[in-house]
Amino acid sequence: MAFEHKHLIDINEYSDTDIMTILETAKTLSEINQRKIKKVPTLKGLTVVNMFNEPSTRTRSSFELAEKRLSCDSLNFGGSSTSSVKGESLIDTVETLNAYKIDMIIVRDKHAGAPRIISEHTPASVVDAGDGKHQHPTQALLDLYTIWEHKHDFNGLKVGIVGDIGHSRVCGSLIPALKIMGAEVTVVGPATLMPACPEVLGADHVTPYLDDVLPELDVVYMLRIQRERLEGAPYPSLREYNMLYGLTKDREHLMKPDALICHPGPINRGVELDSYMADHPKRSVILDQVYAGILTRMAEMYLLLGGSEDGLTA
Ligand code: CP
Repeated sequence: MAFEHKHLIDINEYSDTDIMTILETAKTLSEINQRKIKKVPTLKGLTVVNMFNEPSTRTRSSFELAEKRLSCDSLNFGGSSTSSVKGESLIDTVETLNAYKIDMIIVRDKHAGAPRIISEHTPASVVDAGDGKHQHPTQALLDLYTIWEHKHDFNGLKVGIVGDIGHSRVCGSLIPALKIMGAEVTVVGPATLMPACPEVLGADHVTPYLDDVLPELDVVYMLRIQRERLEGAPYPSLREYNMLYGLTKDREHLMKPDALICHPGPINRGVELDSYMADHPKRSVILDQVYAGILTRMAEMYLLLGGSEDGLTA
């Protein structure tokens, strides 16, 4: 299998073939994750650093589990427990890690571009686990895996991404990833939560009217409002936001019978999603996305680090 990437930083650097290779490898890895003993020796002896300088539940826990299941050694590191609080620079921190002869750095950082800078100062592979409001490529890949499992084909699939588009790093990777795979993307949200020039997103359609587009969509991907990245209030109240942009039980009649509901998490219940929709037994695939996080992150590490084919199924 030809997979020639060293880093996973910008999804635009990946072709449809690269993305399908990751999804198909993840599918192969699903079998390991169903076993009682969920461990293979594929990356034994390699060292992966999880550098999380911002909070995370899903991304961090799924990377840590993926590393354990592939038998590599993990170093968990980052945030206020590091010497960055004493003034050490990101580059000096990376040079320090390099001295340990590490093989991969998985980085989440509030600064857009931090993973790229790190990649210029380390011989290790670098994976972007979310940088500022720029990109979150491993989230996009788990989202694609989930959609592929349920819809089987991306060509012409109509995907709507709803909410705080302007502050979302998920959008920064998911929109191009869906376009690379042939889907049609509509972004929906108030103008105050859109970028100043929404055409830079690369979506096919941009609209503030959720109810107009909901009947067309095969996948409804809801986003939370990124309050940690907001200055001022870009909507009159959460109640009004929920009335206009919340995916609520009252809106279900507008949806296609087989339309899926996705959300990257964490959910703010009662704001962008009510519990009826978040927990909908037929439509919601939010926990499938969480499971896909382990599979796709195992696949990404395996492909980027060139793990042995034998070790994949042993
Ligand atoms: N979707 C996502 O990145 O979630 P976490 O912030 O919990 O990792």
